[in-house]
Amino acid sequence: MSYQVATITLNPAYDLLGFCPAIALGEVNLVNTTDLLPAGKGINVAKVLADLGIKLTVGGFLGSENRDGFNALFSSLNVTDKFQTVAGRTRINVKLTEQNSEVTDLNFSGFIVTDEDWQHFVTDSLKWLPGMDMVAISGSLPAGISLEKLTQWIKQVKAICPRVIFDSSRDALVAGLKAQPWLIKPNDKELEMWIGHALPTLDDIKSAATQLVNEGIENVVVSLGSKGALWVTKNEAWLAKPPKCKVVSTVGAGDSMVAGLMYGLLNKQSIKDCLVFASSVAALSVEQAGVGISNRQAIDNMVSKIEIIAR
Ligand SMILES: Nc1ncnc2c1ncn2[C@@H]1O[C@H](COP(=O)(O)OP(=O)(O)OP(=O)(O)O)[C@@H](O)[C@H]1O
Ligand SMILES: [Mg+2]
Repeated sequence: MSYQVATITLNPAYDLLGFCPAIALGEVNLVNTTDLLPAGKGINVAKVLADLGIKLTVGGFLGSENRDGFNALFSSLNVTDKFQTVAGRTRINVKLTEQNSEVTDLNFSGFIVTDEDWQHFVTDSLKWLPGMDMVAISGSLPAGISLEKLTQWIKQVKAICPRVIFDSSRDALVAGLKAQPWLIKPNDKELEMWIGHALPTLDDIKSAATQLVNEGIENVVVSLGSKGALWVTKNEAWLAKPPKCKVVSTVGAGDSMVAGLMYGLLNKQSIKDCLVFASSVAALSVEQAGVGISNRQAIDNMVSKIEIIAR
């Protein structure tokens, strides 16, 4: 069976990764460049889904001045590129690792989306999204797009493509939740921010997730880092716990989980099996440096190591 899936990244970035033994503020620092990667949460999701053999369309905004790296990535992934090009530059996030493993992030600003750009994007996306089996909307908002616009657009997307997966944080998360996406994957910190207080126990987390389910979000998957993930629906709740993993990098673990959830749901897995599958994809992602699946067999091996508990 072949599925049509879209991932949308409104605010992508280039990640410029480097090593600097000890950063000295106000001085010239020599940095050993590790990598320059086209990145963004929806793009990470697309990478994992492409590795799992899903046919993809990717969309969002990219700056006209530095589109090359993304163009190359999209052709290597063999995905359909529906990104809208806007004036300016896609932002660059510099991540500097020091000798003591501390990471300093310098997130530069990028393009600004004008009202006209946004209007064009809304019209265009609502033309190409119908027919998609699922659409994932991931990450933050670029300058120029208001929270109200995000809510309205997600409502419109849902009307033509009901299975909307939404993964964001802070204000954009709150705005997206108002549109009642079909599935959300906040982490525990994002859920705490939404509810406005700490959620110290799993019962607290479950009751906050249930509150979202009662507000009309069918699937609430709360990721808990190394403690696993809790999936709550109206009828059932499951906790999946990963084994102890050799952590190389947790960057993109949440995005890998989103991709795993989408893959399982597309293939009509039960909620329980889908959570185990997604947890396996996510666990493997922390054991490697980048995002993506290089060894499909490793996922199947990991499945038997995930503990799954009815809650
Ligand atoms: N140390 C770990 N060991 C095993 N699995 C892990 C570990 N960290 C994360 N995971 C898996 O990845 C999933 C997502 O991780 P996490 O909760 O950190 O997402 P996130 O905070 O949204 O990450 P992101 O930075 O991608 O947004 C977890 O639910 C878990 O299944
Ligand atoms: Mg996340």
